Amino acid sequence: MKRVALLGATGSIGRQAIEIVEAHPGLELCAAASGSTPLDGVDAPLKQVGGDLVELLERAQPDVVLNAVVGFAGIHATLWALERGVDLALANKESLVAAGELALAALERGGGRILPVDSEHSALFQCLEGREPDQVDTLVLTGSGGPFRGRSRDELADVTAEQALAHPTWRMGPKITVDSATLANKGLEVIEAHFLFGIPYERIEVAIQPTSIVHSLVRFRDGAALAHLGYPDMRVPISYALTYPERAATPLPPLDLTALTLEFEAPDPETFPMLALAREAGLRGGTAPCAFNAANEVAVAAFLEGRLPFLGIPEVVGETLAAVDGAPARDLGDLLEADREARSLAERGVAIA
Ligand SMILES: NC(=O)c1ccc[n+]([C@@H]2O[C@H](COP(=O)([O-])OP(=O)(O)OC[C@H]3O[C@@H](n4cnc5c(N)ncnc54)[C@H](OP(=O)(O)O)[C@@H]3O)[C@@H](O)[C@H]2O)c1
Repeated sequence: MKRVALLGATGSIGRQAIEIVEAHPGLELCAAASGSTPLDGVDAPLKQVGGDLVELLERAQPDVVLNAVVGFAGIHATLWALERGVDLALANKESLVAAGELALAALERGGGRILPVDSEHSALFQCLEGREPDQVDTLVLTGSGGPFRGRSRDELADVTAEQALAHPTWRMGPKITVDSATLANKGLEVIEAHFLFGIPYERIEVAIQPTSIVHSLVRFRDGAALAHLGYPDMRVPISYALTYPERAATPLPPLDLTALTLEFEAPDPETFPMLALAREAGLRGGTAPCAFNAANEVAVAAFLEGRLPFLGIPEVVGETLAAVDGAPARDLGDLLEADREARSLAERGVAIA
């Protein structure tokens, strides 16, 4: 029996994870946590609403941590699992983006593994399995383009939170849905892929695939490209991460090839500057990705609360990145400080926007 600690149990990923665990006789929840929503109806021996996730994990001693918390708040749980060599099923991309080298060092010390839950990274993980790094040419992360694909910058000046939350292909929590509308999500994923797979940024591309059927692909040096296809349904990568390497059955229908459209286009860098800002932060390294993430979290929250226009999000993030030194974090204390500093700069940016 594999004992799963589910963090973020009340969210979009969390609820789908519960469905996967309940349907699989080899999985059980040993702990479940949320931020503030009650965990009524969640069947787990240890339950915690708010509070210290590390304390919960210490008590639960899980075989796998499914980190489905949203945002930097997931950092301690990610580092706890990596440091102890406990399998980390990672949906909480923000923690890997922010912690970067610190997370990789903890992974090395702990000797465990990260099983990506993000659908693109689950796809890349599967396409890369059993291949040597020198066989890989480029990673291509795909994205739907979000609800504002095809619009010009001017057309985004007055968009509302409600419009940004109407994602064309995925049903997700509000923060990642806004990130998909700005393409910050794809930016975070570029940094996440860099840390997960050790591929330099120059060899990580982004392609828009509006129907979200191709979940990502890898180009190899011999000219072959391996892609991962499937319906946009997070139960598949969640199940893969929790049952790896078993690939358990899910209730999804087989892919109907005759009903598919598989067109690709390049992202529009003028209208969606968050992608370039994320790349810039990734290339700077150190705590620049942490600052990118922190400023984005602040700006997205302000947009959702009606305190910042949509186009203010990249403005606040760009100004924050320009103001931080991005010096590497020697330890978690440094990282928390870099996160705090970027948040306070971003809050000031929101106030004057
Ligand atoms: N949704 C998707 O399809 C999808 C796909 C790929 C990756 N991801 C990633 O998965 C993560 C979760 O996304 P989501 O869409 O599931 O978000 P969501 O629906 O907003 O759910 C977030 C979850 O995190 C919990 N949480 C927030 N702060 C917490 C804290 N301090 N301690 C404990 N729990 C806390 C929330 O609890 P409350 O309910 O109490 O607030 C909720 O259970 C994000 O990093 C996202 O980027 C999501």
